[in-house]
Amino acid sequence: MTPQQQSALTAQICAIAPVIPVLVIEDATHARPLAEALIAGGLSVLEVTLRTPCALEAIAAMAAVEGATVGAGTLLTPEDVRAARAAGASFGVSPGGTAPVVDACVAEALPLLPGAATATEAMTLMDRGYTVQKFFPAEAIGGAAALKALASPLPQIRFCPTGGIDAARAPAYLSLPNVVCVGGSWVAPKAALAAGDWPEITRLARDAAALPRG
Ligand code: 3PG
Repeated sequence: MTPQQQSALTAQICAIAPVIPVLVIEDATHARPLAEALIAGGLSVLEVTLRTPCALEAIAAMAAVEGATVGAGTLLTPEDVRAARAAGASFGVSPGGTAPVVDACVAEALPLLPGAATATEAMTLMDRGYTVQKFFPAEAIGGAAALKALASPLPQIRFCPTGGIDAARAPAYLSLPNVVCVGGSWVAPKAALAAGDWPEITRLARDAAALPRG
């Protein structure tokens, strides 16, 4: 699958909801109820970061939940890409866009949302065919003002900003013409996850899903 085809698919995935929850799952038994809680709130595109030992198991469990579109985040190596694909991920997210990760996503036909933090990184990914990119780490590299500034010279690239975004900060990004959706962990806080407080997560998801775009 070419990077152009990948971007066409990630554009569709990013159009589903204004927010992609970024999930750090410590307990695989949380995967199903967490996915169900988020979907009940209106967020069906879910990113599971490959940062915990049970992440692949969680992806497999969530991919079996009706209505879920599950991606693997924190893809750093070709091995991560292959493992994510084997676990059932329908897309991948990386903090960057290295050639080994990109090549593996082409080989595995895994739509990738690659990360960029500068104009040169965004242009390098665009040259490779990626027109939908993650803007990371969004708040630390200038936030919505920085992303707005990139829209003038690079209007053909659209972004999913992530990193330090919460319910209060999300609207400034979502109002930009070059933002397709935002990503963030605020809809699944660590304490709520640890407590199995699924109603609280549904409440946060509902608020996030109602955020206006454009
Ligand atoms: C990440 O990959 O960690 C995402 O950017 C989420 O960041 P957040 O925890 O600051 O929302």
